[in-house]
Amino acid sequence: MNANSPILFFDSGVGGLSVLGPTQALLPNAPIVYAADSAGFPYGSRTEAEIASRVPALLGRLVERFQPRLAVIACNTASTIALDHVRSALDLPVVGTVPAIKPAAEMSKTRVIGVLGTEATVRQPYVDDLAARFARDCTIIRHGSPELVELSEAKLAGRQVSIEDVRAAADPMFAVADGKRIDTVVLACTHFPLLADELKEAFPNVAYVDGGPGIARRIAWLTRGQSWPGTPQPGTAVFTGPAPAQHLQEALARFRLTRVRAL
Ligand code: DGL
Repeated sequence: MNANSPILFFDSGVGGLSVLGPTQALLPNAPIVYAADSAGFPYGSRTEAEIASRVPALLGRLVERFQPRLAVIACNTASTIALDHVRSALDLPVVGTVPAIKPAAEMSKTRVIGVLGTEATVRQPYVDDLAARFARDCTIIRHGSPELVELSEAKLAGRQVSIEDVRAAADPMFAVADGKRIDTVVLACTHFPLLADELKEAFPNVAYVDGGPGIARRIAWLTRGQSWPGTPQPGTAVFTGPAPAQHLQEALARFRLTRVRAL
C-alpha cells in the first residue's frame, strides 16, 4: 500500500463533508479526494434507476483516475440504492452510509423515531430492512426533505440560513400522527449534520443521531496498520459540474481540500 494512496469520498454535493470531518479527526494525515457529483445534484429527487446507473459509473472513473485505497459513498441516497452495485463493480473496499436506525433505537425512550433523509432514501426497502432488524418495537416516521438539502448547500456556499426555514422543512415529520412523540431523529442524509446547530435550535427537545463518527471509526478500522504520509496533506476536491464559487472553495479549504478539479 502506497502511503500517498488516498481515501475517496463521494457525494452528490457537500454532504459528504459531514463524514470527512470526523474521518480527518481520526486520520489527520490521510490523503483525501472528495468527489461531488454536482452535475447530478440533487440525488434525492432522482429515480432509483438513475442513481443505480450513475453512481457505479462515476465511481469507476474516479477509482481509475485517483487509485484510492478505499472508497466511501458518503451519501445515504446513493448507498441505500447502489452500494451493492458499486461493491460488485469495484475491486477495493467500499464503505457505505446508511441511516443510523440501530443507535437511534438504542437511545429512544418513547420508541418513536424520526428518519429525516431525502425523498429517495426514505422510500428505500433498505430502510424497511434496518427498521425490521433493529427497531421492531419502534414506530418509524420518515420524512424526505429536499429543502434541507438545499439549505445545507446554501450554508456551505456562505448564504444565510434561517431557523424558520429549517423548522418549516422538518416540521411535517412532527405533524403526522405520533409525530409529537418523536424523541430521536436519525440524520439520514449526510447533508443534514451540516445543519445540526440550526436543527437543534428549531427542535430542541429531540436527540439527533449522526452516523458520521461511526463511519469514520469504520474507515480507521479498515485502514488500520496501513502507511500514511508523515504530515497532513492538501486534499483534492473534484466536481462533475461547474467549478465551485469562492465561498464554497473557502469551506472546502477548512477540510484541507485546496486543489479543485473537474471530472
Ligand atoms: N447527501 C445525500 C444523502 O446523504 C444526498 C442529497 C441529495 O443530493 O439529494 O442522501
